[in-house]
Amino acid sequence: MTEAVDLSFLSPEERGLLERLHASPRFAAPNGGPLVHIVGARPNFVKLAPLFHALAPYRQKVIHSGQHYDRSMSGSFFEILDLPEPDLNLSVAGGSHAEQTAKTMIGLEQAFAAERPAAVIVYGDVNSTLAASLVAAKMHIPAIHVEAGLRSGDRDMPEEINRLVTDRLSDLLLTPSRDGNANLLNEGAAPESVMFVGNIMIDTLVRLLPKIEQAATELEGLPERFVLVTLHRPSNVDDTASLARITAALDDIAAKVPIVFPVHPRTRAKLDELGWAPPADRVTLGEPLDYVSFVALQKRSLAVVTDSGGVQEETTFLGRPCLTLRTTTERPVTVDSGSNILLGDDPASILPELEKILSGQGKAGSVPEFWDGKTAYRIRAILEGLDLCQPA
Ligand code: UD1
Repeated sequence: MTEAVDLSFLSPEERGLLERLHASPRFAAPNGGPLVHIVGARPNFVKLAPLFHALAPYRQKVIHSGQHYDRSMSGSFFEILDLPEPDLNLSVAGGSHAEQTAKTMIGLEQAFAAERPAAVIVYGDVNSTLAASLVAAKMHIPAIHVEAGLRSGDRDMPEEINRLVTDRLSDLLLTPSRDGNANLLNEGAAPESVMFVGNIMIDTLVRLLPKIEQAATELEGLPERFVLVTLHRPSNVDDTASLARITAALDDIAAKVPIVFPVHPRTRAKLDELGWAPPADRVTLGEPLDYVSFVALQKRSLAVVTDSGGVQEETTFLGRPCLTLRTTTERPVTVDSGSNILLGDDPASILPELEKILSGQGKAGSVPEFWDGKTAYRIRAILEGLDLCQPA
């Protein structure tokens, strides 16, 4: 193993595990190819950026599946995160999950055959993550999963299926919180393949905090106090009856506190079908926002109502009360130590919790271990330790 690598964040036992992983068949003889990052959807871009920047001295490529394609869901993120255009865009947009995943697999198989990656790096739980880990496993290319080990326990969520398969197939499982290690070891993952590195999404937040703070002071046309809403999970928005319960609850909330609601395309289509038309002076419905503006809104808000995974984490870092409209979370650390409250699936439960916040009894919480802006450097040290990095 290379001497200069700073692996001081690992315990002596963890270093021993890393050495064992390095000696394992998948990692024993790196092929000298580039590191290839696979992304497809909005939250991936926020996780890619810190590692891409940390790996700047080394050969690396970015492949975008094209799952998210609108400027507001993709292009604006690449710009704000200082990411170059992807080396390859597979333009796989829309369609069913099987169509999306299958087309991404076909494109990736050809790309991996041409690029001969030293390793493929996948992020989170979206369809391109699943597709890439499947293709890499069959082509005997080491697959590295950033944000491994999260489990909601709910197999009705497409993301949970993606997490389970990706973790089962990946060779190096990098977790954002220690509950991830416990989940993976309980499922029988090899101990040397599991490493706690911290939350990479928070790296981006930390790096852009000055811009976010500046943007928070410059946001215009906002009510003095407001609740930020963001919802897009199929379980909440795809079913008309469920969405109608949510909009009824939002109407009740808006009567007390104004709402700001940047709408995801999936949700927009369903809201249009429903014909929801709340009073414009109480509910600001807008397009999806760029990263800095959206986090600035979180910072300025009284509380956030969400079903997103990443937003549960960002609010925990920012110490903003977060009300999650779901029955489960794959991010329990945001509830156990952070500012997140899991409400269940009844939208009528939002208002009573919001009233507590209005009376000054919001949950503040604390920032979990290794959510410190340095996760990408810990990952880089591990990749260097495995001799996967070639000078650019
Ligand atoms: C995907 C991820 C989800 C993630 C979310 C973040 C999976 C299984 N789901 O869900 O984990 O939290 O992204 O946003 O990978 N659409 C547009 N423009 C776009 C992107 C999508 O109009 O730029 C439309 C699609 O055509 C589709 C709908 O929005 O009709 C949903 O998009 P899809 O990519 O299927 O899933 P998301 O709900 O975005």
